[in-house]
Amino acid sequence: MAGMRPTPVQPRIEDPVEMLLACHDKVRHFSRLLHKLVAHVASQGADEQARNAALAVRRYFDVAAPLHHQDEDLDLYPALKQLGDPLLSEACRRLSQEHGPQHALWQTVSAWLQTVASGEANPPPAAVLLFADDAMRHADEEERLLYPQARRLSATDLAHIAQAMSARRSAALDATLDVQLDQAADGNAPCSAPSSKAISSRTERI
Ligand SMILES: [Fe+2]
Ligand SMILES: [Fe+2]
Repeated sequence: MAGMRPTPVQPRIEDPVEMLLACHDKVRHFSRLLHKLVAHVASQGADEQARNAALAVRRYFDVAAPLHHQDEDLDLYPALKQLGDPLLSEACRRLSQEHGPQHALWQTVSAWLQTVASGEANPPPAAVLLFADDAMRHADEEERLLYPQARRLSATDLAHIAQAMSARRSAALDATLDVQLDQAADGNAPCSAPSSKAISSRTERI
């Protein structure tokens, strides 16, 4: 019915680490897509495939990636620091501090993607591949140094983290419901899908 919005559904998160790993799957997927997009724009220009891919990458890193960083900075890493392991706490601090520079670099990438989405085949700034490579390296480091340590958290701690992550997505869905529903239709919701399988096939062709 016109004027009515569906009630946002709070995503259920059973295992917060599985959810964070699913986010990393998407980080890797869209980072690889950035590499393909750079090559595609150089050889084919900003054609329809390029424009669609640029929009998909931009949407993911604008919407879902900030939620992922908050999951880590506000929930997982504080809980890991509570374990009182100095090396682990230092790794949490170091990797958390990388989020700010990543976000700053993303602004340059996003601006280039906007030009591609508008049909302009401008050469990419160096920040584009730098961002993609750094995002994949960062995810790899987190999975090597930090995520396995979540096994040391209590079931209660993990449940609190899951609840906070779920509430964060519920708030995001509520704030931008129309946009999010469109993304969900594209398989590009904020890491609510477990892998990159549902990524729109139109972006896979690049
Ligand atoms: Fe991170
Ligand atoms: Fe991460």
